[in-house]
Formats: sequence, C-alpha cells, structure tokens
Amino acid sequence: MATRATYLDWNANAPMRPEAVDATSAALRWCGNPSSVHAYGRRARQAIHEVREAVARLVNAEPEDVIFTSGGTEANNLALRAFPDRRVIVSAIEHESEFAAARDAARLAVNPDGVVALDTLERWLASDARPALVSVMFANNETGAIQPATEVGRIARQHGALFHCDAVQGPGKAQVDFQAIGADLMTISGHKIGGPMGTGALIARSTLPLQPLVRGGGQERNRRGGTENFPGIVGFGVAAGLAASEASAYRGIAKLRDEAERRLLDIAPDATIFARTAPRLPNTLNIAMPRVASATQVIALDLAGVMVSAGAACSSGKVTRSHVLDAMGVARETAECAIRISLGWSTSAADIDHLVEAWGALYARTRASAA
Ligand SMILES: Cc1ncc(COP(=O)(O)O)c(C=O)c1O
Repeated sequence: MATRATYLDWNANAPMRPEAVDATSAALRWCGNPSSVHAYGRRARQAIHEVREAVARLVNAEPEDVIFTSGGTEANNLALRAFPDRRVIVSAIEHESEFAAARDAARLAVNPDGVVALDTLERWLASDARPALVSVMFANNETGAIQPATEVGRIARQHGALFHCDAVQGPGKAQVDFQAIGADLMTISGHKIGGPMGTGALIARSTLPLQPLVRGGGQERNRRGGTENFPGIVGFGVAAGLAASEASAYRGIAKLRDEAERRLLDIAPDATIFARTAPRLPNTLNIAMPRVASATQVIALDLAGVMVSAGAACSSGKVTRSHVLDAMGVARETAECAIRISLGWSTSAADIDHLVEAWGALYARTRASAA
C-alpha cells in the first residue's frame, strides 16, 4: 500500500462532512417513528420537515416537492416509472439507472462535446403528439459536461412534455435551480454532497399525479412508502445546508482542475481531454492516455496512492467501455484509455502534484517500454 493517499474520485462519493457525521450519529440515538403521534414521533417528524426545507432551499424548490428516497438510483427509477402512460425520451449519456428503469426509452444523441442535441429533441416532440417524459441530466458524471437544462425545460413545456433532470452531480458544484430550469422532476443524492450513502430525494412538483414505486404506509404523502431513514435524512439535511453555500468555493477547485489538465497535457501532448470546450463542472476531468487501458491506469495510480476511476463507478468493479464516450463518438481505442479524475472541497495543490507525478511516471514507463 502506498504511504500517501490522494482521493480524486469525488463524483463517485464525497467524504461525509464532519457536521453531517455528528448529526447522523446523534440521530441514531433518537427513538421515535416519524409517523407516530406521540412526542418522540412528532420530534422526528419535525426534524424531517426541517431537512425537507433545507433540501428544497438547495435547489430552489418547495418543501412539499421533496420525496426522500434511498438515493439517486431510486429517485431516477421513481421519476421514469411514475407516468406509465407517457413515452420516455432520455439523453444517451444518462446514468445507467435510467436506461434500466425505462428500457424502451428513445435515446437522444449528444454532440462530440457530450452536450445533448436540442434540435433533435424539438423535432421528436413536434412530430409525435403522444404525451412524453423527457429526461436530461444537469451535468454528466463522467465528463462534467453541463447540459442546457433550461432550454430542455422550455422545449418540453412548449410540447406539453414533463421534464426530469438528474441533478445528482450538480449541487455544491454549480447553482441548481429547479424553478429556473423549469423541471417537473429532479433527482439529487446525499452521498455526492457530503451526506450519508443511501440518502437522496426526488423533487417532484407536488401537484403531479405520480405513481409510487414503493407502496404502503402512506409516507411521503403516499409517494414513497416505508419508514423514513431518519438518521440518514438528518445527515443529508446538514450536507444540503453546507452544499448551498459551496458553489463559490468550487471556483478554487476549477483552478486546481485546470492546472492539473495543463500539466498532464504538458507531459503527454498526445492525450485527449473530453468535453473540454463544453461548459463543465469545475471539478471534473476526463482524460485518455493513448494506448494505456483505463484499468491499467486506475490500478497503476492506485498502487501509487492516487484514487481515480475509469468512467462511472459500477458495482461489479469491472471496467467497461463508457457509454458516454461512445455516445460522443469517441473512437473505441481512445475511449478504452480514458480515466475520470474528480476533485472536491478538500483537494489541495499537493494532491494535484501527487496525481501529476504518478500519471507522469506511468506515461514515461509505457513510452519507454514501447520504444
Ligand atoms: C448522474 C448520476 N445519477 C445517479 C446516480 C446514482 O446515485 P446513487 O449513488 O445515490 O444511487 C449517480 C451516481 O454516481 C450519478 O452520478
């Protein structure tokens, strides 16, 4: 094991904020089902209500729009299955959970920078009058490319379609505004913003006739049954409050990311950086080192103490070629050499030095052995 550990996989999981750890630990000691009428129940219900307000504030929604879920995956499943009478259109770069939830969904192409094709969406909606649900993410988890969500919302509205926006990678890194985007549904996840894993929410306009995925118990105003994950929700609320004031701190992170990018390209002028000319999240960098497979890079960096990922984290731990890079039209041999580096609020200049040193050493080794 390397002596120094540098964590650069924040899009997969952000460390839990110490304040959120404290709040969750304290809540674990509380007794009381939030549905109970007695004092302990009321106390838990009130705490959940306060989190509902904090989460709503984070994305400029109404507290009654917030449906707590077990995370982004469940929220995406709920959103895409909530309107069985609507045909579903998803962008080709959505999180896998959406493709799995809506297997028949039409897939909207993206341009070579990984940004969704608005003209195609407009054409598809104009040429088919059936009610639709359109799902386009706020920002891509692999490349960081920010999508034109406000335009998608406007086009969807014009054609009477509902708009779901998976904003899991947005809050804290960029301003996410449910109302301004004109979304009807929005997904957020607790563990990407410093809350506990297994927490998240679907923001859904409270008047929408949404079909629940999990039934029974009447919780979340009949939209998601089951006793709430009370300690998790409490930690999620603390993280949401901190993330709301975070977007400006990310400007410093953009500087570090840009510096990393520049130094890696200095070492390897033949490397490719994806979505570089698109509006991007300030913390994300996706780069291909030619002729060195993603898995080889991830393992070599890990041995040197630098933790990154090959595209999206996937539960099997297997590295498969990225559907996002495929959708962007990246050549197979380039896509197979891509890694994702994602920074966060505690990333330092020394972490970037460590990354550059380890990646540079691997590049030099592979070039020496090829010579
Ligand atoms: C864009 C996006 N959507 C959804 C998810 C799933 O969220 P969760 O891990 O909370 O299930 C992720 C996780 O990586 C993601 O990046």
